Amino acid sequence: MSTDSSINDSAIGSSTTKKILILPGDGIGPEIVTEAVKVLETVNDKFALGLVFEEGLLGGCAIDATGVPFPDKTLAQAKAADAILLGAVGGPKWDQIDRSIRPERGLLAIRSELELFGNLRPATLYPQLAAASSLKPEVVSGLDILIVRELTGGIYFGSPRGIDETDSGERRGYNTYVYTESEIRRVGHLAFESARKRGGKVCSVDKANVLEVTMLWREVMTELGKDYPDVELSHMYVDNAAMQLVRAPKQFDVIVTGNMFGDILSDQASMLTGSIGMLPSASLAINGKGLYEPCHGSAPDIAGQGLANPLATILSAAMMLRYSLDMSEPADTIEAGVGAVLDQGLRTADIVSDGMRQVGTREMGSAVLSTLR
Ligand code: IPM
Ligand code: MG
Repeated sequence: MSTDSSINDSAIGSSTTKKILILPGDGIGPEIVTEAVKVLETVNDKFALGLVFEEGLLGGCAIDATGVPFPDKTLAQAKAADAILLGAVGGPKWDQIDRSIRPERGLLAIRSELELFGNLRPATLYPQLAAASSLKPEVVSGLDILIVRELTGGIYFGSPRGIDETDSGERRGYNTYVYTESEIRRVGHLAFESARKRGGKVCSVDKANVLEVTMLWREVMTELGKDYPDVELSHMYVDNAAMQLVRAPKQFDVIVTGNMFGDILSDQASMLTGSIGMLPSASLAINGKGLYEPCHGSAPDIAGQGLANPLATILSAAMMLRYSLDMSEPADTIEAGVGAVLDQGLRTADIVSDGMRQVGTREMGSAVLSTLR
């Protein structure tokens, strides 16, 4: 991983300074990111990590300040950073805006510009939260799935795309679902390598009975599988995968799939764990640089009320330490801290159940902090 020598360092004398770009974003983003940054600052001191922080604009807040969702300055900051922590982007305030500059476009653009092709979305059930899942405890207890979603290709980015008019004057919308062999291969490698460190199984999800692009996906995954004889590869159509995820989710270890199927299946898998408010994610480039964000969105309905669950963002910060910065000890410490506050019976509104104590965003963040001190 590169350390940009032009970076100023407030961590004086540290040759291992790591620059972290913080993008709070919109909605609940600033509230949850505030708690995660406190956690990072605390482990930074405790373990002398040499992290330096800088803030930037992405999404609706960037539109308000500069007119575009992903300003050039943010791109430059992102390129100079070793890792990026993002809250969430978007909200009703920007829903009517021209679609080319919607907040979500900023998120897609940063993923694309930094080539963050590999999106890791774990769906892990904390035993303390088994009751929060909408599925029976026996179906989900011990659940530990990793969804590897391709993030910079597929129908999200294919062209042509647009809304125009047919010759008869009828409106017509279209997108293009396209993958090259190399795009499939690199996310496939990530999935197989991840499986090696976990349960040793990869399930590749496609719609190869209908879509040519995913026929190729299946062929390439099958070829790649030959390089990983120690990993068990299976294939599943996406409709069946959606059904299996709620029928018998524990059959899965690593699921690898394209951008749009991964978007949908990862939301679905998140609910198996009780709350999307618990799930972190990593979006990785080939050089190890990564953008880390909670799987949930900006939740405008509860923004500014101090109700949001900061744990997914705090866990995203832990993933950042582990995957982009090779700092597994502080990452373990943060994750253990999250387990400890759940053991204490603290719950934000999204995961509260009988007998537990409901707390707000700040109190939850502070509770994690006190496990670190
Ligand atoms: C996600 C989100 C984004 C996506 C949106 C906000 C563009 O749903 O990260 O899953 O579709 O990728
Ligand atoms: Mg999504």
